Amino acid sequence: MASFLDVLFVRNKHVCPWYCCFTFDNIIRKIFHNPYRILNTLVRPGFTVLDIGPGQGYFSIPLARMVGEKGKVIAVDVQEKLLKVLNRRAVRAGVNETIEGRLVQGLNWNFDNEINFALAFWMVHEVPEKKEFLQTVYSSLKLEAIFLIAEPFLHVTAAMIEDTRQLCEGMGLRLIDRPKIFFSRSLLFKKKGADS
Ligand SMILES: C[S@@+](CC[C@H](N)C(=O)[O-])C[C@H]1O[C@@H](n2cnc3c(N)ncnc32)[C@H](O)[C@@H]1O
Repeated sequence: MASFLDVLFVRNKHVCPWYCCFTFDNIIRKIFHNPYRILNTLVRPGFTVLDIGPGQGYFSIPLARMVGEKGKVIAVDVQEKLLKVLNRRAVRAGVNETIEGRLVQGLNWNFDNEINFALAFWMVHEVPEKKEFLQTVYSSLKLEAIFLIAEPFLHVTAAMIEDTRQLCEGMGLRLIDRPKIFFSRSLLFKKKGADS
């Protein structure tokens, strides 16, 4: 049976509706989720980056600046409205050539060893088929690629993030850190290389 906390925080049961995104995608968030501080050491110019569930592009736009003109940010989301907002913001920020928004349905995507860095920020708990989802991310990553998962502290329990860790490790991702990210439970993985 669902606990009070499960009901209160709608744990594992919904996709965050587009009209709620402003609650966590605003100027105040920069104080506690500075995208550069979180991502700077993980992303290099020229990278192909996958931003999964980008919402309105809170991280996609800084990511586009980090990868530069020779890199690419692929932003996949299930909500068209959010991708439209993301595109408008990218145009305003002058990085729309670097960001490719893709509307997806469930798991009808795979980038087959193309990705240097993948980000799933506050979204894995919204995916009903978590194992298949993580497998899709895994097969999209190049060898040695980095994958950062951050989940909201209130929606995702310690047991839930451990389950995610175990699934990822079972696929061939090596946990390299648990970065401290405000209000989040986080896992940083590296895809094992040919000789690891
Ligand atoms: C809580 S928002 C987080 C947005 C953004 N990552 C951020 O931190 O500002 C979750 C996002 O994940 C998207 N999402 C949910 N399930 C998804 C799926 N299976 N594939 C891609 N995106 C998904 C939602 O549409 C929404 O944009």
